[in-house]
Amino acid sequence: MDREEEFLKFVEEVKKCSKCRLYKTRKNVVVGDGPINSLIMLVGEAPGYWEDQQGKPFVGAAGKFLNKLLDLAGLDRGKVYITNVVKCRPPGNREPKPDEIEACKPYLDKQLNLIQPKIVCALGNFATSYLLQKYGFPIQSMGKIHGKIFETKNLKIIPLYHPATALYKPPMKKVLEEDWKTIGLKLKKLNLKEVFK
Ligand code: URA
Ligand code: SF4
Repeated sequence: MDREEEFLKFVEEVKKCSKCRLYKTRKNVVVGDGPINSLIMLVGEAPGYWEDQQGKPFVGAAGKFLNKLLDLAGLDRGKVYITNVVKCRPPGNREPKPDEIEACKPYLDKQLNLIQPKIVCALGNFATSYLLQKYGFPIQSMGKIHGKIFETKNLKIIPLYHPATALYKPPMKKVLEEDWKTIGLKLKKLNLKEVFK
């Protein structure tokens, strides 16, 4: 089986998942979106209302702001793979619970293995804790580490504030915009031309 076939099989498997309580209230499983050979992966927290309705990540208000941030970095949304720590919407957009993250994390692990991105942007605290822990880094507060690059052998992890932060804390908009502009410059230096517009 080639990588593409394996990926399609994986997506079909996740769409049928009932490993945690979130399967009962979801409309759609939001597995992820983007080319499977992407050099960059973005990992959010969990689907919200519109994502659950459409089965796609970051299509609601936070997604609109994410589009602006990608623009500021010069990145092409069509060339990055976007997913979440948890693939089904928590009711009322509550935070995902530890046992839900535990049940769902093999899917994110599988996505990382199959896609093998060079860069993962961790959007928000849930993605940041999961990814830093997975690769053996100590957890630190977002205030200290946002926009920094954590290097592993094959992967660079960049923790960032969740785009939705700007929607409920307007002064954070500038922080997010500056971080994404800087990331655009850093990625240009890394010669990742394929991901730019
Ligand atoms: N917030 C997230 O973390 N993920 C989405 O897909 C949408 C909003
Ligand atoms: Fe399965 Fe993850 Fe959905 Fe839970 S959130 S039902 S583990 S896909």
